[in-house]
Amino acid sequence: MREACAIRTVVFVHEQGVPPEEEIDEHDRTDPEAVHVVARDAAGRAVGAGRYYVTEPFTIQIGRMAVLAPERGSGIGAALLDALVSEARKRGFVKAHLHAQTHATEFYRKAGFYDDGAEMWDAGIRHRPMSRKLA
Ligand SMILES: CC(C)(COP(=O)(O)OP(=O)(O)OC[C@H]1O[C@@H](n2cnc3c(N)ncnc32)[C@H](O)[C@@H]1OP(=O)(O)O)[C@@H](O)C(=O)NCCC(=O)NCCS
Repeated sequence: MREACAIRTVVFVHEQGVPPEEEIDEHDRTDPEAVHVVARDAAGRAVGAGRYYVTEPFTIQIGRMAVLAPERGSGIGAALLDALVSEARKRGFVKAHLHAQTHATEFYRKAGFYDDGAEMWDAGIRHRPMSRKLA
């Protein structure tokens, strides 16, 4: 969690200007069902993070997907998403939702997510709801 939050702080707070008090929430602090993943480079250094939490029976919400800027574009984000989807499948979840920053919708489309609603503003950033089946 310490490493995941450190990456998210660099990416969301320092790079994107999200207020620090909005970045860490109850799914990081106290949610026993939330699942967090961390990607490491060959030297063992944490370079990416992501999470999901449970929203309703059999359904998860993926979020806080972050890869350090110098490491982007080499498949780390896709591997993080894959790990979250595999873990959710193993635990019996059948549907995943997320709120994609609009610049990242293509990244999620490539992982099988489809547009699922109108764009919205969250933490000062435009987002698009997207979903996919897991089963
Ligand atoms: C979005 C993010 C997690 C993607 O991570 P990444 O490691 O760069 O992504 P990958 O290298 O695994 O990309 C997987 C595929 O998506 C594509 N892709 C990745 N980011 C993209 C983007 N912004 N626009 C279009 N395509 C993109 C890649 O080209 C690649 O396609 P390919 O399989 O055809 O080669 C990363 O850019 C990031 O941390 N951004 C800042 C934080 C952020 O905005 N997070 C998303 C919050 S919703």
